[in-house]
Amino acid sequence: MDTAVSAQPAGQSGSRHNHVVKGAYYAPAQVEREYERLWPRVWQMVCRAEELPNVGDYLTYEIGAESIIIVRSDADTLNAFYNVCLHRGRRLVDGAGNMANFPCKFHGWRWSIDGTNEHVTQREDWCGSLDKDDLGLGRIRMESWGGFLFVNLDGQAEPLMEYLGEAAEALAPFELHEMRFRWRKWLKMPCNWKVALEAFNEGYHVAITHYPLNRFGTSRFASAAFSRHGTFGIDAAAAEGTVRLRSSTMDLRRSLAEYYRYQKKAIDSILTDTMVYAAQSLPAVLPDDATPAEIVGKLMQLSISIDAERGVTWPSITPEQYQRGGIDWHLFPNTVLLPMATNCLGYRARPDGNDPDSCIFEVYQLERMPKGQEPNPPNLRNDDIYDQDFWGEILLQDFQQMQGTHLGIKSSGFSGSRLNPKQEIPIDNFHRAYHDYLD
Ligand code: FES
Ligand SMILES: [Fe+2]
Repeated sequence: MDTAVSAQPAGQSGSRHNHVVKGAYYAPAQVEREYERLWPRVWQMVCRAEELPNVGDYLTYEIGAESIIIVRSDADTLNAFYNVCLHRGRRLVDGAGNMANFPCKFHGWRWSIDGTNEHVTQREDWCGSLDKDDLGLGRIRMESWGGFLFVNLDGQAEPLMEYLGEAAEALAPFELHEMRFRWRKWLKMPCNWKVALEAFNEGYHVAITHYPLNRFGTSRFASAAFSRHGTFGIDAAAAEGTVRLRSSTMDLRRSLAEYYRYQKKAIDSILTDTMVYAAQSLPAVLPDDATPAEIVGKLMQLSISIDAERGVTWPSITPEQYQRGGIDWHLFPNTVLLPMATNCLGYRARPDGNDPDSCIFEVYQLERMPKGQEPNPPNLRNDDIYDQDFWGEILLQDFQQMQGTHLGIKSSGFSGSRLNPKQEIPIDNFHRAYHDYLD
């Protein structure tokens, strides 16, 4: 019989003085437990508001047995409803699209896009006993932040902004609501959703997993936890600091240009085409003896003016706000955001049905776009974790670690994680919060 796992006090059951319990990644009963105790009680990011621009646009979001309809009910109102007919329980709609109303295919009951019942077939058979007030689609709490829509199945849950807390404050200067999708990709990943997520919750792996980045400098990362959420950024205090990019022995102008070219090819994120283009002109517009501060300042200035010409305004972000924004934020339970001035790399992982060995993993790039030129890209699926042309080499490097970790973690030769106490705080904190919900 499958047994769900509980967090053990530090030092027991291989917990290695942290909150990670290895069975939480693969015990089949754990999936059930998450569906009972975690997913119904957290704020889950379901989509971006930009996905539903027109009245009647809808999409469905699945988590466990639940399917949720997100719909634009009028120009100013987005709603979330349980995707289920109140007659005999048929699922109402599939996928995404635009509907004038929601008719059930089974016996024809029908709801308006604001969730009100409009029609019951042969209603007279009920002899007036159907209560109109009892026939509205089941409404689900939905709130927005940063252009994202979040739902919570728990009517008693705290408001979204309280839930996000420090994370929302730190990310506010980046004005994520001003960004739009530039590209979107997803796959079914052969690992637990938590393994996938945790590949992006620490920077400790970067120097080894993403070794080609080392030629631009070695990095150390500092991490921190804020309530349920976690973050990491460059550890400015560490001796190696950010980077050889600062070394006087290298030509920062050329290494920045090369760095951006590499990022463009290897992930096509963490940057914009504007910044790639601006970086390429640095050797031509600055003298050999330009200081690092002058070079970085020039790159920003060039990027801002190139973007201004095409109708993209940069937000004003202070150095302190950049520092607080860090590199990466993990929003509990399953969203990761890497904010930059005019763009943001995002990840989401969630369980794939009842299979603890598989998850639905999504990656996307958000970017500030000239008004009226938002590209509305398709969400492309590719389950081949070795397809470098599709995913780029950086994500491929991460994917191999996810699969390898999920396979290895089950071994009786592995008794539990030994987390890096400085750089892997978000992983420990995630499991602390996770077990708080589950236990
Ligand atoms: S189940 Fe929907 S109308 Fe019967
Ligand atoms: Fe990575």
